[in-house]
Amino acid sequence: MDTNSNLYQDLTRVLVTREEIAKAVKKLGEQITRDYADCKDVVLVCILKGACLFFTDLMREIDLPISIEFMSVSSSGSGTSSTGVVRIVKDLDRNIEKKDVLIVEDIVDSGRTLSYLVSVLKQRHPNSVRIATLLDKPARRVVDLDVDYSCFDIPDAFVVGYGLDYDEKYRNLPDIGILCPRIYE
Ligand code: IMP
Ligand code: MG
Repeated sequence: MDTNSNLYQDLTRVLVTREEIAKAVKKLGEQITRDYADCKDVVLVCILKGACLFFTDLMREIDLPISIEFMSVSSSGSGTSSTGVVRIVKDLDRNIEKKDVLIVEDIVDSGRTLSYLVSVLKQRHPNSVRIATLLDKPARRVVDLDVDYSCFDIPDAFVVGYGLDYDEKYRNLPDIGILCPRIYE
């Protein structure tokens, strides 16, 4: 999709290009390959729906015999900020006991969603639980959270594309852009 296509008209500007994303994802995949080289059972957990594109690209850059799982949580309404109330909509299919779990998320904002998820998954006795996020908005953090891997720190702006949505739309944009405030105000 071209950057002068219809969907791009709703952006203030492109913040992270598809080329920058691909480069960062490749680098992260190589790092994870090194860090998890000695782990026997690595499970990559995709947090639906936002992380779907990041997840499928990242897993192809990890040169290890990993397995994958999908989880869906609801933490936000249809607006631009999360409520802080996290609910598991779809849980993992398999047991993670004694496994090395890597949660793959699209963006860390307040940190509430991941903080809750990490605590839920830790109760299931995995060997380890770490977080890989594509984007991080450190200025918005309200809970203490260790983010192990992050591709890009971004400013406090509402972004869409490459899996991230506003009201379920714009996930199919190949780049990440700042959404025009007129769309949600
Ligand atoms: P947190 O619990 O506040 O960290 O919220 C994380 C979730 O809020 C993410 O998984 C996204 O679904 C959503 N979110 C936060 N910021 C943005 C954004 O700029 N664009 C799209 N979704 C966002
Ligand atoms: Mg999300």
